[in-house]
Amino acid sequence: MATAAAEVDAGATTMSRYRVEPHLFVILGGTGDLTRRKLLPAMRRLASLDVLGDRRALLAVARDTEFDDDGFRGWAKGALEAAGMSEDEVRRLDEARLYYQPMPTGEADDYEALANRIQEIEGAHDLPQNRAFYLALPPRTFSSAIEGLASAGLNESAGWTRLVVEKPFGRDLESARELNREIHRHFTEDQVYRIDHYLGKETVQNLLVFRFANPIFESLWNRDRIESVQITVAEDIGIESRAGYYDQSGALRDMVQNHVAQLVALVGMEVPATFRADAVRYEKIKLLGAVAPISIEDVVFGQYARGTAGGEAVPGYLEEDGVDPESNTETFVALELALDTWRWQGVPFYVRTGKRLPRRLTQIAVTFQAPPVCLFESMGVCQTNPNVLYLTLQPDEGFALNVDVKVPGEPFELSTLPLDFFYKQVFGAIPDAYQTLLLDVLTGDQTLFVHADEAEASWELFGPLLEAERRVHLYRAGAWGPDAADELLAKRGHAWLEPVEHPDRSI
Ligand SMILES: NC(=O)c1ccc[n+]([C@@H]2O[C@H](COP(=O)([O-])OP(=O)(O)OC[C@H]3O[C@@H](n4cnc5c(N)ncnc54)[C@H](OP(=O)(O)O)[C@@H]3O)[C@@H](O)[C@H]2O)c1
Repeated sequence: MATAAAEVDAGATTMSRYRVEPHLFVILGGTGDLTRRKLLPAMRRLASLDVLGDRRALLAVARDTEFDDDGFRGWAKGALEAAGMSEDEVRRLDEARLYYQPMPTGEADDYEALANRIQEIEGAHDLPQNRAFYLALPPRTFSSAIEGLASAGLNESAGWTRLVVEKPFGRDLESARELNREIHRHFTEDQVYRIDHYLGKETVQNLLVFRFANPIFESLWNRDRIESVQITVAEDIGIESRAGYYDQSGALRDMVQNHVAQLVALVGMEVPATFRADAVRYEKIKLLGAVAPISIEDVVFGQYARGTAGGEAVPGYLEEDGVDPESNTETFVALELALDTWRWQGVPFYVRTGKRLPRRLTQIAVTFQAPPVCLFESMGVCQTNPNVLYLTLQPDEGFALNVDVKVPGEPFELSTLPLDFFYKQVFGAIPDAYQTLLLDVLTGDQTLFVHADEAEASWELFGPLLEAERRVHLYRAGAWGPDAADELLAKRGHAWLEPVEHPDRSI
């Protein structure tokens, strides 16, 4: 992953030691929300860090025939402004390298025209046929776009050709397999970059460093020392204007099958033989394949009812615009996973994710085993707080390890305090995930991208829950899910931990 060796310079993370080969970056769906909010700002930041080199161009493709190069250039400027980039950054947008190609029908003729336009741009900028095609398209059009690119011979070139596929990757196991088959008809796996933007987050990458660069933790990372693992991926927002998508998707597809599966894999995987993409991805695939089939008894589905968010009254899910008033779609899932491996046998992995929870938070809590005897009982104290390691992925990236200390003086008393580290405090601003991932695409590093087998292993695990007979429990917007989620853990004598927050949220 390209950022792993990034240098810290005056508080800002730079990537100056990476140099991308001359290339053309083609965005299919280049006028959409993702391009505007994420891709264009990320490309601009990379250009500012001077990693993209001078020989490059970007071509946006969409159906709109009213748009042209000039129209796109103005729109791109607006996107950078809306992303809060400085006037200087916006001024430095190199408009002469930006192009727009209409694709009104998506038929073979359109792709022929695209191939011709690509050659023309490559000629104008002296580019060596290194091409990245980013599918920032509605997922239903992924297959036809792949087919179209191949029909015009754009799946191969004299340089390198890479295909970036956005999420969601399929709706279930069968559609994921079909999409993989379609991709593999025309592209080899080493050309394919399936995005899960969670993997681009610094703290997700740091999970690997934390585990494998610090033997102190790795030696404890097993069933002999760990009692349980909890993963919380919480959003405080509702579905906003995405009812059309969300009501067909639900939390299992939107969060669990992709992001949560990746977090489970990174926490649970074995040590890879090397830090190369194939070795890391192989260990993740192995881990996902070792998770026991999930019993529906170990799953809780929830849906938010009216409640509050940020002190304001908010409607329930069924009252949201565009949601079927009879909808059974889950906005919350809690489940228990059993990892059938030598390392993890008997250690429950609890997962919960949902919308309209009390706050936005992605946190992994690893609870170590309590001391085997209550040594301080004679002093009137029994240590009841096991050590817990909290790895926070957002919003305050960092970690905290809770340890018990003696409160000075008498009577004999213990207090639990955190040993902690927060990224922003030490490194200042950290790069956006898309900045990391785009650089990886352009440098040909697949470590942080999902392999075909990984996507299918995850669907094999979670897909059956889509079909299962389910009860959806209501929870009040602003609560941590339904009571049934607490009962799930209580069955084994556990409880959801109170999430920890950065002690100073102002940084
Ligand atoms: N937005 C995000 O924050 C976000 C986050 C994670 C993942 N994603 C994924 O990124 C992809 C794009 O999302 P988005 O939010 O940017 O969607 P969007 O705002 O709806 O934009 C879609 C883009 O694709 C073009 N398009 C639509 N239908 C097309 C067709 N049949 N053929 C060719 N072009 C077509 C649209 O322009 P025309 O209508 O002019 O063709 C537009 O440029 C989706 O797969 C989404 O799941 C998005």
